[in-house]
Amino acid sequence: MVSLKDKYNEASTWYEQKYVEGGWKNNPYMKDEYDAHQFWMKNGEVGRIISLGIGSGQDIEILGKPHPKTFVGYDMSEGMLNNARQKFPEYTFKIHDCKEYFQDHCDILVSMFGTPNYIGLSKLIGHYQRLKAQHAFFVFYNENYDDGFGEFYYKYTQEEIERVLQPFDPIVQPLNKNYYIVKW
Ligand SMILES: C[S@@+](CC[C@H](N)C(=O)[O-])C[C@H]1O[C@@H](n2cnc3c(N)ncnc32)[C@H](O)[C@@H]1O
Repeated sequence: MVSLKDKYNEASTWYEQKYVEGGWKNNPYMKDEYDAHQFWMKNGEVGRIISLGIGSGQDIEILGKPHPKTFVGYDMSEGMLNNARQKFPEYTFKIHDCKEYFQDHCDILVSMFGTPNYIGLSKLIGHYQRLKAQHAFFVFYNENYDDGFGEFYYKYTQEEIERVLQPFDPIVQPLNKNYYIVKW
C-alpha cells in the first residue's frame, strides 16, 4: 500500500507546477492561499511560529514572510521539504510525522490545507498544549472537500470545530466553499 508520505513525495515532483507556479495573480489554485493570507494580515499574531505540514513552504507566504528566526516548518515528506528549502533557503524545516509529538515550543501553532484533517483535532490540540502555544491558525478542509489523495482523513463541520475548540474562543468561519479558517 502506498503511504501518504510516499504520495506527497511523488506529488512533490509536480506540485509546484500545478499549485504554485504563476503565483497569486495567475494560478487559480492560489486563490485559497491568497484568501488565507488576507485573513492573516488582518487578524495575525506576532511570535515564534511552528507550522505542522508546511509542505513546499507556502505557509511562509501566507503568513506574510515572518522573520526566519521566528519560524520552523515541520513535514513528513522529504520531497515537499526539499521544494521548501529551495524556495526559502533562509528558513528552518524539519522532517517529522506530526501524528507523533515532538519537543519544541512556539507562541503560534499553524497548520493549513491538509495536515489538520490528516492528524485530526485532538492531536492538533495535543501539539498546541505540549508546544505551550497561546495562539493558533488552522485551515481545515470542510466536510464536503475531496483532496484527491484517496487517503483517510478527519472531516469536520463548522459546528464540530466550534464545539471542540470552544475553550479557546476561536474565530471559525468558512474561507470559501472548500475550507474553514480557524484562529485564536
Ligand atoms: C496539501 S499539502 C499543504 C502544504 C502547505 N501547508 C500549503 O498550504 O501549501 C499537505 C502537506 O501535509 C503534509 N502532511 C500530511 N500528513 C502529515 C503528517 N502526519 N505529518 C507531517 N506532515 C504531514 C504532507 O506531506 C504535505 O506536504
